[in-house]
Amino acid sequence: MGDLIKKAAQDLIKSHYAIALTGAGISTESGIPDFRGPSGIWTKNPQAERKAYQSYQEFLADPKKWWEERLSGASLLGDLEKAKPNAGHFALVELERMGLLKCVITQNVDALHEKAGALNVIEYHGSVLKLRCVDCGSRFKQEEYNLEKLRAEGALPPRCPKCRGVIKTDGVAFGEPIPNDVAHRSVDETRKCDLMLICGTSAVVYPFANLPRLARQRKDGVPETIIIEVNADPTPLTEEKISDYLIRGKTGEILLRLVETIRRIREG
Ligand code: APR
Repeated sequence: MGDLIKKAAQDLIKSHYAIALTGAGISTESGIPDFRGPSGIWTKNPQAERKAYQSYQEFLADPKKWWEERLSGASLLGDLEKAKPNAGHFALVELERMGLLKCVITQNVDALHEKAGALNVIEYHGSVLKLRCVDCGSRFKQEEYNLEKLRAEGALPPRCPKCRGVIKTDGVAFGEPIPNDVAHRSVDETRKCDLMLICGTSAVVYPFANLPRLARQRKDGVPETIIIEVNADPTPLTEEKISDYLIRGKTGEILLRLVETIRRIREG
C-alpha cells in the first residue's frame, strides 16, 4: 500500500486540476453507516431499500402525506446533524489548502466536507441541512421552515416563497432527477480534471457513476485523466479498468498518509 500512496502523492503533485469524488465510505469513520458495505443499511435491511425506491413516487403522488410520514419517522441514517468529520474529510481539506484539490463532488448528504472546512463542494445527492423547491429549484436552510408548526396547522407540504412550488427535502431520492445546477457543475469539473480521486464509494449508483467514465473518455490532444480509487473493496471501476489503480483500505488512514507523503516529497 505504501508504494501506491507514494505513487498517488506524485500523481497529485504533477496534476494541474485534481478533483475528488466521495461516497458513504468516507463517512463510516464518523459513525454513519454506508449502504452496500458488509454492515451497510441496504445490506442489513433490503426491505428499507425497496421502500426507498418508492419514496419519490409517493412524494409526487401526495406530498402532504409524504411529509407527515417523514416528520413522524426516524431517519435511516440516524442523527446526521450531530456527526463530525473524520481524518478522511480533513485530509481532503488539506489537499484543497495545498492547492492540489480543486473540488469535491460528494454523494453524501451529511454535509461533513463543509463541516471539515472544504470550500468547493458539490452535493450531488443534496444535503440533509437543506430543503429544495421541486419547481424552481431554490434551496433553503431547514431552520427557515417550522415544519412541526406547519404540520400542527395542517399546512403541509411547505411552499416555496418565490414560486409557491412544493418544498421537498434536498436529498435526491431514487428515481428523482439530479438538480440541473448540480449536474452541470459536476460534468464541468469532470471535464476539466486531469486527476480524479475516488473515495469510499461502491460506484454502482447512476448517474454519479458515469462521472469517472466521462473522465476516462479521451479528450483530443489531452493526456489521459489519472483515476485513483481509495476504497475498502474493489468496485466496477476497478474491474472494468476505468480506474488506473485502487488503494485498498480505510479512507481516513490512507488519505491522511497521502497528505503526509506529499508534505515529505515537497519538503524534499
Ligand atoms: N474506507 C474505505 N472504504 C469504505 C469505508 C472506509 N472507512 N467504509 C466503507 N467503505 C466502502 C464500502 O466497502 C463500499 O464499497 O465504501 C463503499 C460505500 O458504498 P455504498 O455503501 O454503496 O455507498 P455509496 O457508493 O455512497 O452509495 C451511493 O446510493 O443509497 C444511495 O443515495 C445513496 O448516495 C448513496 C448512493
